[in-house]
This record gives sequence, C-alpha cells and structure tokens, in this order.
Amino acid sequence: MNTVNEMSLSFLSKSCNEAFARSVVAAFVMNLDPTINELSDIKTAVSEAVTNSIVHGYKRSSGIIYIKGKITDENKVIIKIRDKGCGIEDIKKAMEPLFTTAPEEERAGLGFAVMQSFCDKVKVKSTVNKGTTITLEKTISVQND
Ligand SMILES: Nc1ncnc2c1ncn2[C@@H]1O[C@H](COP(=O)(O)OP(=O)(O)O)[C@@H](O)[C@H]1O
Ligand SMILES: [Mg+2]
Repeated sequence: MNTVNEMSLSFLSKSCNEAFARSVVAAFVMNLDPTINELSDIKTAVSEAVTNSIVHGYKRSSGIIYIKGKITDENKVIIKIRDKGCGIEDIKKAMEPLFTTAPEEERAGLGFAVMQSFCDKVKVKSTVNKGTTITLEKTISVQND
C-alpha cells in the first residue's frame, strides 16, 4: 500500500470552519472520482469529527484542529482529525450510540455511529487533557465507465 497523495490543514475551532474543513476534504477526495454518495459519506463523517473537536474537545473555547489526508494506490482515503482538547475518558462508552456528555448542546450522541456507518473503519486515540485523534478510512470504488 503506497501513498499517492497527501495533504494537511489546520484551522481554528470555530463553527464556520466545519463547512470549510468538509469542503477541503471533499476537494482532496475528488481526484479519485468518487460517487456522490461516497463523497457525501466522507463529508458527513468529517463534519461529525470536526464538530466533536469544537464542541467537546475545546468545549467551544478557542483551539486548533488539525486534519491530515492521505490517498493510497488502492483508492483508500485516510483522514485524521486531531485536537489538543480535553480528551475522552472512556472511549468505548463514548462510541456507544446515544451516549453524550453534552445534552445541553442538543447533541444526539450519534456522531460516532454516523462516522462508523459512513466509513469502512474509524479509529479513536485519546488522552485526557492532551487531546483526541480520529482516523477515518474509506475505500473509493473504481468506476469503469
Ligand atoms: N474530540 C473529542 N474530544 C473530547 N470528547 C469527545 C470528542 N469526540 C467525542 N467526544 C465524546 O464522545 C461523546 C460521543 O460523541 P458523539 O457520538 O459524536 O455524540 P455527541 O457529539 O452527540 O455527544 C461526546 O458526547 C463526548 O463526550
Ligand atoms: Mg458528535
């Protein structure tokens, strides 16, 4: 598995940058000629991870969110979303559908469930008071037309 393309991006944890991050990742993935559904899946998963960094990681205070993107020669897209926020105490629990620590934010607790259903693989690395890295992986189908 060789890397054929790479990108990195960093931006402030502001809500308006959710759409910015989603669009940059979409433009990066466009090289692979994804279907509309594949593209929308990746955008949605990236949005969920970025929103989590803003709302939970940095608790709506100011911080920097880092995104790294990679494309492999097997058409696999790997996107890492990292924050240096509060971190997650119990990752297993956090990933359970409907679990949320921010009900006052009208969170549904479905962010991780959405990421998992729209990507092939979701990895979570987190250290309390250090931050969180989410890795999303999705292989884009090869179109023969
Ligand atoms: N980047 C992050 N930093 C700290 N905590 C996080 C982060 N991402 C997720 N979490 C924790 O995992 C929980 C579940 O996340 P999620 O499934 O997206 O649901 P929701 O965002 O609706 O709460 C959050 O309520 C939060 O406690
Ligand atoms: Mg969420």
